[in-house]
Amino acid sequence: MSPLISPHGGRLINRILTGSERLEAIDLAKSLKKITLNSREIADLEMISNGAFSPLQGFVNSKDYESILHSMHLTNGLPWTIPVTLSLPASGKEKINEGDLLAMYGVGDTCLGILDVEEIYPADKAREALQVYKTQDEAHPGVAALLQQGDYYVAGKISLFDRIVHSDLTRYRLDPRETRVLFEQKGWSTIAAFQTRNPVHRAHEYIQKCAMEIVDGLLLHPLVGATKSDDIPADVRMKCYEVILEHYYPKDRVVLSVMPANMRYAGPKEAIMHAIIRKNYGVSHFIVGRDHAGVGNYYGTYDAHYIFREFDPKAIDITPLFFDYTFFCKKCGGMASTKTCPHDKDQHIMLSGTKVRELLKQGIIPPDEFTRPEVAQVLIDSMK
Ligand code: ADX
Repeated sequence: MSPLISPHGGRLINRILTGSERLEAIDLAKSLKKITLNSREIADLEMISNGAFSPLQGFVNSKDYESILHSMHLTNGLPWTIPVTLSLPASGKEKINEGDLLAMYGVGDTCLGILDVEEIYPADKAREALQVYKTQDEAHPGVAALLQQGDYYVAGKISLFDRIVHSDLTRYRLDPRETRVLFEQKGWSTIAAFQTRNPVHRAHEYIQKCAMEIVDGLLLHPLVGATKSDDIPADVRMKCYEVILEHYYPKDRVVLSVMPANMRYAGPKEAIMHAIIRKNYGVSHFIVGRDHAGVGNYYGTYDAHYIFREFDPKAIDITPLFFDYTFFCKKCGGMASTKTCPHDKDQHIMLSGTKVRELLKQGIIPPDEFTRPEVAQVLIDSMK
């Protein structure tokens, strides 16, 4: 068995304190100024602390911010496409100095850990929007979130007292160290990861299974951080995965686990980020289909494929598996893609998300060629 892929930068970061260091930090935090993080920032904190964002050890400084926006790399030369930042309002900026230690809080009064403030610098929101999201349109959910944040960023290493605690989906929450151990126990060295924020449909199933033909195992890795309000909630999506795995997948060839980051809807830039994250989880291959991490019409259907050409494949290391638009073709009598099917569009069963939602709301199971009936039933039940 060959060894698992190395983490991005060669070492899996761990910013969760243990033993006496942890106890001392908990004590110290009681006397520190507080900083409150929003949901996206807490999700990022979790990703930094458990190594999913390796090599980041904290929120990025101005040099890395500039380098990411300008060249899609960190200053150390590693590919990185979306700055991971912690924002501050101008009023908050006045109270904090470089060199301070801050006690980090989320909602509620539990202190999560300590931030060692390296630098405070102004956010260049207009440029960040254009570079990361390719638009400044406030209707874009990623841009809207960016504009709502404070105008300054505070950079620095973080240390958490404990893993971030979640009350939901607990049995699916494996951090990169745990997935790596699991893959080794299973004897897998090639693993394909599937990122998703939607309920599973036949096109998803098809591209996952195509990938499964060439690797040892599949990591089904739905994103369960915050998504747009009209996306289906994570608990419902997970039920869809449970039923489809039960009825249509070989159990010993799939691991279902969740990825805690928020969706940014940054299309191609997020595809690179999603791939790097999965590499940290120990995955060798990453599935990128049509309009990966897209929203509206901001990105071309295959921009998330083309962006990989802009990087040294050795620096990215994880192997992207690109898939064209896939659908059920009546004439082929099965799932196909624009690469494999010669027939006219009228032979293809393609339903818009809106149409599917309409059917489900009325309690109607969409055609089997679009979704598995067991999955449709979960969605219908969730709408009642
Ligand atoms: S995403 O925001 O996580 O990309 P979604 O959950 O819809 O959204 O997609 C998960 C993965 O499946 C992405 O790689 C996406 O490109 C791919 N995908 C979704 N639908 C299709 C399709 N019909 N054909 C090919 N790839 C698809």
